[in-house]
Amino acid sequence: MLEEQWEEFNKLLRNRGYLWPSYEIYGGVAGLYDFGPAGTLLKNNIIELWRKHFIYRQYGLVVEIETPIVTPQIVLKASGHEDHFTDPVVECLKCGRIYRADHLIEESAGVKVEGLSLREIEAIINDRGVKCPIDGGDLSTPKHALLLFRTEIGPYKGTLGYVRPETAQGMFTSFKHVLAAIGERLPIGIAQIGKVGRNEISPRQGLVRLREFTIMELEFFFDQSKSAEESMEYLTDELLDVKLRILYNDLKVAGVKEPIEAPLRDFLNKGVIVNSWLAYWMAIGQKFVESLGIPREAIYFEEKLPHERAHYSAQTFDQLVYSKRHGWIEVAGYAYRTDYDLRGHMAYSKADLTYFKKYEKPVEGISKKLVPDVVSIKRDFKELAPLVLSEVFKLSSDFLERSLETYGYVEVSGVKLSKEYFVAKEEKALIHGEKIVPHVVEPSFGLERLMYVVLEYSFSKASDGRIVMRFQVELAPYKAAVFPLVTGRKEVHQKIKELAIKIYRTLLNSSIPTYYDEEGSIGKRYVKSDEYGVPYAITVDYQSITDGTITIRFRDTRNQVRVRIDELTATLSKLINANIQ
Ligand code: GLY
Repeated sequence: MLEEQWEEFNKLLRNRGYLWPSYEIYGGVAGLYDFGPAGTLLKNNIIELWRKHFIYRQYGLVVEIETPIVTPQIVLKASGHEDHFTDPVVECLKCGRIYRADHLIEESAGVKVEGLSLREIEAIINDRGVKCPIDGGDLSTPKHALLLFRTEIGPYKGTLGYVRPETAQGMFTSFKHVLAAIGERLPIGIAQIGKVGRNEISPRQGLVRLREFTIMELEFFFDQSKSAEESMEYLTDELLDVKLRILYNDLKVAGVKEPIEAPLRDFLNKGVIVNSWLAYWMAIGQKFVESLGIPREAIYFEEKLPHERAHYSAQTFDQLVYSKRHGWIEVAGYAYRTDYDLRGHMAYSKADLTYFKKYEKPVEGISKKLVPDVVSIKRDFKELAPLVLSEVFKLSSDFLERSLETYGYVEVSGVKLSKEYFVAKEEKALIHGEKIVPHVVEPSFGLERLMYVVLEYSFSKASDGRIVMRFQVELAPYKAAVFPLVTGRKEVHQKIKELAIKIYRTLLNSSIPTYYDEEGSIGKRYVKSDEYGVPYAITVDYQSITDGTITIRFRDTRNQVRVRIDELTATLSKLINANIQ
């Protein structure tokens, strides 16, 4: 975007109440933004469109929940975030400024360092002579900085907690509750939309890198052994024909820079996407992003190389949208999280997060149960033995097996019991099913980034220089605006105004988001309504009070039509519905 347009764009966002930096009266805080009235409406409309694609139209496969932002430390220990959710940082030894080492190197040496070790980063800094961009000072040895916001749960001697960096952990920790509430079944998607915090080192680029933002996320749980067969029921021809542009790892490794465009079925057949449920959600995600008004050529998926992936993922694709200002921006990630998270939480919480997969018919077999070996426990733990035995007998055979498998011991009353203290009891039985740990794929969207690209793509200048926000009708913050047209005579003006207010209220009562404006000239009101991207502006004039008609002005063509007032709500609803995706 040209510098001049960029300034106009930002002025518009602020002046028309889309967004502005938070806490500005105190100087602001990098990476925090407020959404004003128009911005909040736009944001809610994007959320509703996401719900349509990822929840409402998913054949009852997906439910939505809400879990807390404040998260106990152990949850993020179990998820791996406390150990892995870091960025490399360096400090300027002259001025003390802190930089994200990977960004600094990318900018000053043009080298991509995502996923490299601290040593490798240090070597690049030394080899390329990377210095502080402000004062040329030498840089410190790189360190890992934890991106989690710390907090205390409980005001006095509270326990350590964090602001969640993703909503996903809420879906894993409440997985069993959801199944119990809606009926035990797989596959099942659990969605959540909510705020998350990431204590970014140096957030820049406005909405693109925030310290607090909204995630729209879906954890989709399935039986891995049936994933190809079950997903095929949902991968309709329409979805298999969806065209995607993908830069996958084989291409990246071969030095190819451009994604390849093909129907989803080709990528599946070639084995580019390793899991067919992952493929399914990528097709849904493609349709969703296009429905925001982003053209296909401005969207692509980039597979992440193993060292570029998050710690929990076996395969990840980022979905990127081209921004005229910022280049390619990642708006979503699609990760195959396998059973990593559920296993982590089972190990730390000792809860059983498995799913009981019932067989169609029970089969005869041997049931194996692990039980404590009383003799060896009594022999080795002497006076502690009664306590150890009473505690260990409370644990299920499944738990004992999992603990032995994960840690090599079971810990009770401060004692670690290795596998020698257990015996497997086998007996003939009818087996009704088996416990499995479901696998998970996750499409995860950053809402504010989507808002940014929607705002950028909607921003346009008409031939007369006027700004028009050409939002998709479904996304427009206001669908209509009502303007009384002032005339000279006071009593006539009053009548027009009363009628305009009546129409405005009728539209609001019909759930058509509308605002009323009687300020300034009609020309100025149209300028404002174009800046809000109002698709249908209603003018009430002298003729309205005489023949019961008003005019509708169309944002994109500026054409006007006269419509009877008693048909207005129906006409607008029809126009809006015709543009609903
Ligand atoms: N849950 C996806 C992410 O943290 O980016």
